[in-house]
Amino acid sequence: MNKKGSVSQTKVYINGQSIPKEEASLSIYDHGFLYGDGVFEGIRAYNGKVFKLDEHLDRLYGSAHAIMIEMPIPKPELRSAILGLLRDNGLQSAYIRVSVSRGVGLGLDPKNIHNPTVIVMTDSLSLYPQSMYTDGLIVSTVPTRIPPPHVIDPRIKSLGKYLNNIQAKLEANRVGAGEGLMLTVDGYVAEATGDNIFLIRGDKLITPPPYIGILMGITRNTVIDLARRAGIEVVESVFTLYDVYTADECFLTGTAAEVIPVAEVDGRKIGDGKPGTITRQLMADFRKETETVGVAY
Ligand SMILES: Cc1ncc(COP(=O)(O)O)c(C=O)c1O
Repeated sequence: MNKKGSVSQTKVYINGQSIPKEEASLSIYDHGFLYGDGVFEGIRAYNGKVFKLDEHLDRLYGSAHAIMIEMPIPKPELRSAILGLLRDNGLQSAYIRVSVSRGVGLGLDPKNIHNPTVIVMTDSLSLYPQSMYTDGLIVSTVPTRIPPPHVIDPRIKSLGKYLNNIQAKLEANRVGAGEGLMLTVDGYVAEATGDNIFLIRGDKLITPPPYIGILMGITRNTVIDLARRAGIEVVESVFTLYDVYTADECFLTGTAAEVIPVAEVDGRKIGDGKPGTITRQLMADFRKETETVGVAY
């Protein structure tokens, strides 16, 4: 319903159809609902252009392949469905959520479940407050660790894995932190609950390597490209909290947060506690990239 009490015109895409969101429904036997058995993507559109759409689609199809969900439609068809839905919903800037579940079936065994559900939803963006970008985030290390790749590979953006992130976010919220920093079971710094982490030491940009069990963030990859284009050396290396506390600068990257500076971690100021020069340069470069690159709809 919209504010006037009439049915809104917002549509969603579900299994090949574009229908009003109020009419969309899922089976209570859906394996995504019963077991978190599915994959997803969060994508963003800026001013009528979808940012890094093909990279997100590649990651979605990669995640599905890794857990042996056979995507029921080819990539170009889903790509057109996303662009069509954004046009239908009349959104210039948007958050796009694509979800895929293995399909319908009660038991755990996925052997006989071959009817994946594909859903696309679009929404207007709820942006982080501007003060977080000008002052920097207060971050707290949380007790919950990321699962190691031999338990559940965090590079697969699966529905079920995100209970780990929700648990971590609850812990960050309890101490009033803007984000929760997650470690590997061995105590290395991994990523935030919904963002990748970068440090700056001297003139080098340092970020953990994906094999330790982080999501291969699309914003992360964009920032690495932008930094290299600006002549900044980028090193993918494992590091500990000591490296974070003593870094010159620190920032997080993610589709929703974009590039966001970190002012403080676990009560330690990072650098002088204000967004640093390289962070601010990369924030500006990223903003420019979102304004110029993208798939128009
Ligand atoms: C755990 C985690 N790490 C990192 C990211 C950042 O990835 P991206 O830049 O592709 O949004 C996300 C967001 O999807 C995430 O959920």
